[in-house]
Parts: sequence; C-alpha cells; structure tokens
Amino acid sequence: MGPLLLLTSTLLSSYFHAGRTVNTQKLFTIRDITLSIEPSINVTRNTNVTLRCKAVVSSSGQEALSREYTIYKDGNTVYTKTSSTSEDLLYPLSEARVSNTGKYKCKINIEGKNMTSGVKKLTVTGLSKPVLSLNKDMVSEGEEIKATCTADGETGSIFFYFYEDSKEIQEKQVNSNQAEAKLRITSVGIHKIHCAYTVLITPDSFKSEKSSAVIVSVKELPITPVLEIFPQSKIYEGDQLDFLCTVRNVPQHPEGKLYLSQGNQLLSSGDTKVNHSMVALAKDPGEFECRFEMGDVTKFVLKMVPVTELFSVPTFTMSPAEVFQKEDMTLTCKSESFASERLRREELTYTLDPPENLLTRKGPGVFHGKALQYDFNYTCVAQARGIVKHSETLTVRPKVSVSIPKISVVGKAVLGQPLKILCQSDSGSLPINYTLLREYDELSTTIVKQPFQQAFFTVTITKPDEITKYMCEAKNNHKEAPLSKRLNATVIVPLTHPIMTVIPNPEISEGDHLYLICGVAGTPPVTFKWYRVGYEQPLNTTTSNKNNTAYQVPKVSKQDSGTYYCEAFNHANNVVISDEVNIQVRLAFWKKVVIGAFCLLAVSVLVVVSVLCFISKRGKREAAAELSVKPSSPKSDDSLTVNLTHDTEVYKAATVRVNRAAVSVWSERPPEAANDEESSMVSKEPDVEYTEVVHPRPVDPARVPLRKGTDTVYSELQNSPHGAADHHDYGSVEYAELNSEHPETNHYRPEVNGHQELPAPVD
Ligand SMILES: *[C@@H]1O[C@H](CO)[C@@H](O)[C@H](O)[C@H]1NC(C)=O
Ligand SMILES: *[C@@H]1O[C@H](CO)[C@@H](O)[C@H](O)[C@H]1NC(C)=O
Ligand SMILES: *[C@@H]1O[C@H](CO)[C@@H](O)[C@H](O)[C@H]1NC(C)=O
Ligand SMILES: *[C@@H]1O[C@H](CO)[C@@H](O)[C@H](O)[C@H]1NC(C)=O
Ligand SMILES: *[C@@H]1O[C@H](CO)[C@@H](O)[C@H](O)[C@H]1NC(C)=O
Ligand SMILES: *[C@@H]1O[C@H](CO)[C@@H](O)[C@H](O)[C@H]1NC(C)=O
Ligand SMILES: *[C@@H]1O[C@H](CO)[C@@H](O)[C@H](O)[C@H]1NC(C)=O
Ligand SMILES: *[C@@H]1O[C@H](CO)[C@@H](O)[C@H](O)[C@H]1NC(C)=O
Ligand SMILES: *[C@@H]1O[C@H](CO)[C@@H](O)[C@H](O)[C@H]1NC(C)=O
Repeated sequence: MGPLLLLTSTLLSSYFHAGRTVNTQKLFTIRDITLSIEPSINVTRNTNVTLRCKAVVSSSGQEALSREYTIYKDGNTVYTKTSSTSEDLLYPLSEARVSNTGKYKCKINIEGKNMTSGVKKLTVTGLSKPVLSLNKDMVSEGEEIKATCTADGETGSIFFYFYEDSKEIQEKQVNSNQAEAKLRITSVGIHKIHCAYTVLITPDSFKSEKSSAVIVSVKELPITPVLEIFPQSKIYEGDQLDFLCTVRNVPQHPEGKLYLSQGNQLLSSGDTKVNHSMVALAKDPGEFECRFEMGDVTKFVLKMVPVTELFSVPTFTMSPAEVFQKEDMTLTCKSESFASERLRREELTYTLDPPENLLTRKGPGVFHGKALQYDFNYTCVAQARGIVKHSETLTVRPKVSVSIPKISVVGKAVLGQPLKILCQSDSGSLPINYTLLREYDELSTTIVKQPFQQAFFTVTITKPDEITKYMCEAKNNHKEAPLSKRLNATVIVPLTHPIMTVIPNPEISEGDHLYLICGVAGTPPVTFKWYRVGYEQPLNTTTSNKNNTAYQVPKVSKQDSGTYYCEAFNHANNVVISDEVNIQVRLAFWKKVVIGAFCLLAVSVLVVVSVLCFISKRGKREAAAELSVKPSSPKSDDSLTVNLTHDTEVYKAATVRVNRAAVSVWSERPPEAANDEESSMVSKEPDVEYTEVVHPRPVDPARVPLRKGTDTVYSELQNSPHGAADHHDYGSVEYAELNSEHPETNHYRPEVNGHQELPAPVD
C-alpha cells in the first residue's frame, strides 16, 4: 500500500507542477476585506465572541485561490489560517475574558497580494470573584501562613493583593490565575485576611472585587522578659545600680536576643541573660527597658527607677545686681536642698570654674573680689560623694562709668532762635541720664538707653554771652555725675539797622569817586549787595568779615545819578535792606569854573559900562546897579535855613564885590523857586542848577583864601535810617560853595576825607 501511495502522490505532484506551468497567469483582484465582531464589540464575561473576516475577491479562472488570513490583536498576530474557499474566516473567542479586550484587525494575502481590514475594538467586561485559601487558621505569633488567591478563569497578566484587616500586606504579579503568598502576623488575636486582583490590559487595568474573608487566630507565645534592679529600696544619687535582664518560657531552640537600654541609650545586650552596673544619677531619665527579640516576635518590660537627689544644682548669684568696673562684688553659690539623711552640709564643697580668678573665698560658696574691666563668665561647681553639679553660667558684665560729657551746639546758634544742644559722653554704660544745666539749675533730663541714641536739648538765648551759662551733666551711677565745660559757641546775631552811607555825599561832581558804604549791626561774615533802583541785578555782591563794606563807583558820570540802596544777610539768614539814597551827579568843577569865568567877564564889562554911564551921567549919582537872583531872599536867614536841612556846601564868590543885597547874577530861576517844590523840579531836569550864594558879610578878597573854614558855613545832612521818606531832599539841595581851600570833611567817615579837590578860587 505504501509504495502505491508514494507513486500516486508523485504523479499528482507532477501533474500540479505541469498544470501550474501551463496556467501561469491566474487573474484575480482583492476588492475588499472587513472585520466584524459578533455578537457585539461590547460584551460581558463568558460571552462566546466570534471575529468574522470577510474578503471579496474577483478572479477569472475556475481554480480556487489559496487565501492566507491573519488576525492581529493590538498589532500582534494571534491567528493564521489558509483556506481555498471563498467562505468568511471565523475566529472564535469562546467564553471571552477581560484579557480578550483589544484592537483587532484582519489581513488577507493571496499570492503576494494583500489587503488589511480596518481596526475593531472588542471590550469585555466583568471579572470573576477571587477565592482565598489558607493552609492554617490557627497560628502562634510570628508563625508563617501560606495563602493562595485564585482568579477563576482569568487570563493575562494579573496582580494579586493580600490584605490583613483591610490593610494591604503583600502584592504579587503573575501570568497565571493563581498566586501564593507567605504571611506572618505578629499581633496576637483574630485577623481577617482577604485578597483581590487586577488584570492588566495596556494601557488600562481592571480591578476585581474582594474575595471572601478568611479568619485567622494568632495565639500569644508565653515568652516573658524579666528586669530586676538592685537595690530595691530608695535610691540616692551616687548609689551603685545593678540590672539583670532575663527571659522565661522560651521555646526549645531559641534564636532570640536580649537588649537592656535606658531611654535611647543601649546599655548592654546578650542571648539569654544581660547584666549591667552603673552609678545612679538624678539627671538621667529613670526608665529602663529589657527587651527580647525572636524573629518577628518582640517582648519587653519597662521599669522606672526613681533616684533621689543628694543635693540640688547650685544657684549662682551676684550682689549687687549691677556692678561697675573695679567695684566690689560678691558671688554666692548654693545648693538649695540636699538629702540630709545621707549627706552632711559640710561634705558639700563649692568651687569656681575657671579656678583662676581674682576672687577670694569668704565662706562656703561665697566669693568676694573686684569686678574686672571686661565681661567674664563664672560657673560654680558643687561636689559631694563623687557627684559634681555645675551651676548655670553667670556672666558678669561690669558697667563703665560715664566719662565727662561734651556739650556742643548742633548747627548754628542764632540769637533769638531755638538752639539745639547736644550733650554726649564718649564712654559709659547705658542707660545714661543727661541733664542740661543753666547756671547749675537743672533744666531737663534725657535718658539715653540705646546705642546711637543722643541727648538733644533745645533752648533759646536772647543775649550772645548767655550761651556760656549752659552746661550738662551725665550720670549712669548713683555715685558721680561728671559735669561738662560751659557751652562755647559763636552766637550769630541776626542783622539789624542797615544803613547805606554815601561818601562824599549824595551830591557829587562828575569824575569824583563815589563810595556807597553799607553797614549793619550783627555778626559777620555778612554778604552785602548794592542795588540801583530800576536795575534787577545787584551792582556788586561782597561777603565780608566786617559789618560794613564800601562799594566804589569810580569816576562817576551823570548817568550814575539815581537811587541806590543796599541789602545784607548773614548766617542767621535774615535779609535786611537799607533806605534808598538819591545820588545826584553835578557838572564837573572845571566846567563850572569856565562858566563862572565867563560870567565874571560879562559882569566886569557891565561894571565898566556902568561906570562909563555913571561918568557920563553925573547928574544921576543916586543910581546904583543892583542885580539879584533872589530879590525876596537876600537875607542870610534863608541861606541858613537851607543849610540846616540840606547837605550843603557854601561857596563864596569872593571876587565879586557887591553890596549886601547883591547875591548872584547867575540864577535863571524865578525868585519863588528857592524852596523845596522847586527842588523836585530841579531833580527832573537833566542839568543841575547852580546857585551861588554870596555870603551876606562883606568879604575881603585878599583874605578869603587864607581863612581856613572859620567863616565856612557848612552842614552836611546825614541820611538817617528814616531818611528815605525825604530822600528827595538830596535832589533839592540848595548848593552853595564856599570859596575855601580846605576840603570838606564828612563827619561820619573821617577817614575818607580829602576826596574833594577844591580848586583855588577864581579871581
Ligand atoms: C461599547 O462601549 C463603549 C464604551 O465602553 C461605547 O462608547 C460604545 O458605544 C459601545 N458600543 C456598543 C456597540 O455598544
Ligand atoms: C459557548 O460555547 C460553549 C462550547 O464551546 C458552550 O458550551 C456554551 O454553552 C456556549 N455559551 C453560550 C452562552 O452560548
Ligand atoms: C504583503 O504583505 C507582505 C508581508 O506580510 C509584504 O512583504 C508584501 O510586500 C505585501 N504585498 C503587497 C502587495 O502589499
Ligand atoms: C554579671 O555578669 C558577670 C559576667 O558576665 C558576672 O561575673 C556577674 O556576677 C554578673 N552579675 C550579676 C548581678 O548577675
Ligand atoms: C560667656 O558665655 C556666653 C555663652 O554662655 C558666650 O556667648 C560669651 O562669649 C562668653 N563670654 C566670655 C567673656 O567668655
Ligand atoms: C535716671 O533717671 C531716671 C528717671 O528720672 C531715674 O529713675 C534713674 O535713677 C536715673 N539714673 C541715675 C543713674 O541717676
Ligand atoms: C571757645 O572756643 C574757641 C575756639 O572754638 C576757643 O578759642 C576759646 O578759647 C573757647 N573759649 C572757652 C572759654 O573755652
Ligand atoms: C561792627 O562790628 C564792630 C566789630 O567788628 C563792632 O564794634 C560794631 O559795634 C559793629 N557795628 C555795628 C553797627 O554793629
Ligand atoms: C565788587 O567789588 C569788589 C571790591 O570792591 C571788586 O573786587 C569786585 O570786582 C566787584 N565785583 C563786581 C561784580 O563788580
């Protein structure tokens, strides 16, 4: 039968081979392929799901085509089948599980031609309830239990969780539907154990419900640690303490360990027995623990050991509470209480730490000496029966006595204005009381408590020398209060009484030097400013260390006529302004002389003509020539009045021999003009009007030049501080020049004399 079969297959094979060679060109085309999920894309657990892959292929021949199907789940091939029929490909997923959830697609391949369907997502919901089983339901503490959790019928990657009394205690990941865990329960009593699982389908996960709980009861082991302490009676500081830590009822092969500890400090450890000795100290936390550890089982016993203090921690005090450098002080060290039943007071000794100090012992715990000049930390040590106790550190900060204070003025000291005084000591511990004194009377006190704080006082003085009455006192202890020197500062007197003095005088000849002297009362340096009315800018500004300063207008001209005043201020910053002064510049002297000479010539001619007329008219001898400018005021009284009220020079036209009534031939004014109203008119006129007044007395022409002022009528009116109101008087000065050689002297400024050069009288 075998050889026959072999022969048949060979024949068949050769037939197919020959056939294919003949029918090489099989014409077909894959028109479509679709994937569908039955009964639905959303199913519950246990549903029989079928994936149907339907391909539509058109071909020309009768011959069946070999169709190769592939099913993909989430990109991975899960199923392949080759079929020669045109029937749909069915891929059954019987009793679907959550793990079948995924994206599926289907591909067909016919002789190298292929086509892939669209993707369909299958979602399976519902997980089975897990089942928990334990190998024991009764264990001793620390004993192991084997727990098995099963997720019936589930597939895929599964996480199992185990819980003890709702608290997760273990987690396992497996690729099957069952997981095993070894559990150890340390606490004695009844415990409920359950489990749950999660199926992982990337990127999601599905969590199952909880299994039913299984009860485990854990029995306590009879192991008992024992802590014995000796002595058992009242324990005092310094006593020897012995501890013995053991354990009872340990099972046959104990692998445990014993530990003896005090608070956080492990004192000793061992296998079955631990002993320890120490000196009892009151400061220690008196709680001791004996602990036995075996696997997960821990047993312990705690005991309190009260230790009675032999003596208390010493207190360390200083008296007096505050001490100045190098002053006496006493430090006292004392333990307030001690166990008199155990200790006699004499046994307690006190020493100082550091031992090198300059204090001497005055009794038990009493030390006396002088305070150092710097801070020092002292500690006192009390000792008895090997017990040493340190007091808290006592820092002695010797205070520094206040140094002699300095008193000074802050800023400027201006008379009549509030004056700020600073009182300050260079050294001294705070607080310092600074007291301002005025002639030993206490005015006020400022307490300086902070570094950089300063003691300021404000006073007002009314006289410059009053400032030296102030002193201050600094005090930071109750023994001494050093006193400062007297306050010494320059008192700035504010400016008053501004006066502008004009040298030579407000009426001045062209070409002369004019001085405007500005003077004030008050403290220099003073800044002076000269102004001319009508001009905004000062003529000059000068700061001087004197209280008066001159401003010179060299070689005045007629344009300098005008009203002037000055302004001054000093560090008191008050500005004072002088009265205004009207300055008149008259014609130069030589011009007057030329005019005068010309006039004299004319008079001479007139006289000659008159004489000739007189001679020719002998009959009329009574006639006399009388020429007068001021017929109404020929009397000397009028001149005198003028002289008393105005800055006037009297000039004698000595060469004119005239009678008593004859005064001048030069005036063009009407006689009434010789009064003040006319004077203001004069000031408006560009040309100064001159009036020559002939002295009423007959004058010997030969003698006049030699007479040095004996008959000079001179009066210079000084412009007073209140002169501004009638300043216009200067413009209306009736001017008379005395034919005298000696220069006029300004009685205000005697040093500025000789400025007026009077020429020799014209003959
Ligand atoms: C399947 O479930 C998804 C949500 O899980 C929903 O969006 C979809 O419409 C459901 N499809 C069907 C056919 O029920
Ligand atoms: C699913 O198919 C199995 C046989 O494969 C059958 O035993 C079961 O009853 C079917 N389940 C349903 C819900 O039709
Ligand atoms: C068909 O699929 C195969 C791989 O599965 C590929 O190598 C081949 O190129 C595909 N042919 C066509 C026509 O897409
Ligand atoms: C403590 O142990 C030592 C040796 O380990 C022993 O000599 C001593 O007697 C023990 N003391 C007590 C109180 O058990
Ligand atoms: C004193 O002790 C304090 C701390 O308690 C320390 O800050 C200080 O510097 C010490 N002073 C001196 C002088 O040693
Ligand atoms: C400083 O002044 C205060 C308040 O007047 C006073 O209590 C204190 O004793 C004074 N201090 C001294 C050292 O005089
Ligand atoms: C006042 O101070 C000045 C210098 O500022 C000094 O020349 C003068 O001697 C001082 N007067 C007194 C009384 O100390
Ligand atoms: C001007 O100062 C001097 C001292 O420099 C003084 O003697 C005189 O009284 C002062 N004059 C006035 C008006 O204050
Ligand atoms: C002000 O006067 C002083 C002295 O008289 C002189 O030196 C100075 O140049 C003058 N300044 C002005 C701006 O006239």
